[in-house]
Amino acid sequence: MERHPATCSWKCGNLCASAPSSAPGSLGDVVLASLSRRDVLKAGLASLVVVAGRGLAAERGLGFTPIAPSTEDRLIVPEGYAHDVVLRWGDPLARGVRRFDISDWSARDQALAFGYNCDFTTHLNLPWGGGDPSRGLLVVNHEYTNPELMFPGYTEGSATREQVEVDVAAHGLSVVEVRRDREGRVTYAYDSGFNRRVTGDTPMELTGPAAGHPLLRTHADPTGTRVLGMLNNCSGGVTPWGTALSCEENFHQYFAGAGSLPDGAVARMHARYGIPKGRTARGWERFYGRFDVSLEPNEAFRFGWVVEIDPYDPLAMPKKRTALGRFLHEAAATALAADGRAVVYMGDDTAFEHIYKFVSRGASGADRRSCSGLLDEGTLFVARLDADGTGTWLPLVHGEGPLTEANGFASQADVLLNTRGAADLLGATKMDRPEDIERNPVTGAVYAVMTNNAKRAGSQVDGANPRAANRCGHVVEILEEGNDAAARRFRWSLFLVCGDPGDPSTYFAGFPKGKVSPISTPDNVAFDRAGNLWIATDGQRGSIGNNDGIFVVPTAGPERGRVRQFLSAPEGAEVCGPAFTSDGRTFFAAIQHPGEGGTVEKPSSRWPDGAGAPRPSVVAIRREDGDAIGA
Ligand code: FEO
Ligand code: CA
Ligand code: CA
Repeated sequence: MERHPATCSWKCGNLCASAPSSAPGSLGDVVLASLSRRDVLKAGLASLVVVAGRGLAAERGLGFTPIAPSTEDRLIVPEGYAHDVVLRWGDPLARGVRRFDISDWSARDQALAFGYNCDFTTHLNLPWGGGDPSRGLLVVNHEYTNPELMFPGYTEGSATREQVEVDVAAHGLSVVEVRRDREGRVTYAYDSGFNRRVTGDTPMELTGPAAGHPLLRTHADPTGTRVLGMLNNCSGGVTPWGTALSCEENFHQYFAGAGSLPDGAVARMHARYGIPKGRTARGWERFYGRFDVSLEPNEAFRFGWVVEIDPYDPLAMPKKRTALGRFLHEAAATALAADGRAVVYMGDDTAFEHIYKFVSRGASGADRRSCSGLLDEGTLFVARLDADGTGTWLPLVHGEGPLTEANGFASQADVLLNTRGAADLLGATKMDRPEDIERNPVTGAVYAVMTNNAKRAGSQVDGANPRAANRCGHVVEILEEGNDAAARRFRWSLFLVCGDPGDPSTYFAGFPKGKVSPISTPDNVAFDRAGNLWIATDGQRGSIGNNDGIFVVPTAGPERGRVRQFLSAPEGAEVCGPAFTSDGRTFFAAIQHPGEGGTVEKPSSRWPDGAGAPRPSVVAIRREDGDAIGA
């Protein structure tokens, strides 16, 4: 996550204790209400586990000793585990690419090398559908860059053309073949034919209902269907047919000059999405006119989408799926509905924004090629979470309710281009920065992560966002009606209210706090095969004083709510990924922006090489005895 300002410099316990405890809807009231709902939900979860026939797996304990919180500049995993650095920023992904050299690095080098700030990570077996994870494809997003840690002598606002071109090439996504040896060590194949870089300049296609809309047409693309690049790709997902979904998050920061636009619909939409009125810190607009809104008002509408990429076909053009809406996308967790339709759960990671899901019109088929257009037709919904623990998926459909021409929505394309504005009109619940979302593969319950929201005032507290000035975040558990991902109704409960367990406002699904690791600012999440939730954090140093890390928590059984710390990251890094191989024996974590806050000349971290500037990297974690992670 790029530079979200909502991290505190003091313990959230102090801050949370200052929240008005007697106000209607205060945390105490909300947690008590949630507890009664939780009992109901627990009963529901138990029955779901039985239905799934995997109850024993869901209740299996976690067999490692939690690590202690740390502020050390090193990566720490529990006793009995080891990690290997698999891919560093600048590692070559093709024959003939020069060895990385921070003092002599070109855009051409970068376009064929591993990108910066790794975020979403997933592992797919080779070939597609194969059962052996010893050979696979690692798909990794490159969300943003830290130019001050990439270029010696970098001056913000005065980037050179060469620096900007490297910067553009360091964004995007990498597909890299990886292999695992008998000891469980993972290495990458630099010369694999599957290796691919997608950058901020890669040609891609706009598809779905908004493709070709006048607001998507530019001087360079009068068709409104062809875009160069994807930006600020944060978390994402994998479809049941083996493609990756990559989420464009804080795309607004790359565009400059919205203040030059006359008052009108375009200016209002750019303001709703946070497009800067003046210049940008990165200065791309100085060398790429398309990032200057005064020259190209519509280019910004071509970003903020979910991009579908086929990792198994290095030549396949990435597709921006407009049917999934336009906002600051974070998650893209997929599920199949009871009737086979594809469902994608998504978050809009900004304070007071929303949770969404998309349900396809057609059903997934056995042939992966038949699924290629499945995300172009369907219904987009936004969530309303009511105080009584029930919830409704509100359809974002042109012509229904207030989504009419009188309110600026003349077509479904208008709804999708201004998804935030449409969700506002429907009265969707304004959440505390929805980050990642995942569906439990054992129970079917859905977990939506709210990372924090220091801006929430006491008067804005509600059931699903129970703390004013929420600096530590929380996790919401959602049970779809009938356990069907396509349901229109659901029940919800607070699963975790994060922070130091000594803080009375925290809650860990009812588990005794004395056995719980401190955790704050949850961000990316993943499930293991047993249904345990693995949580990566972003912002612990500013909220509870510890380096970010990875935590695991059972979602069912007697240890439901027992959070245990599994990994501690180096100085300045947030942790992303996380992802398992299909056999659960390798666990990938993306270490993003180690040393953030320093410079090439004055680095605050030396990770991972122990010398030179820090380099964002993906690590593979294994058990030294070769057994499954966490078991
Ligand atoms: Fe890029 Fe919302 O984290
Ligand atoms: Ca983040
Ligand atoms: Ca994130």
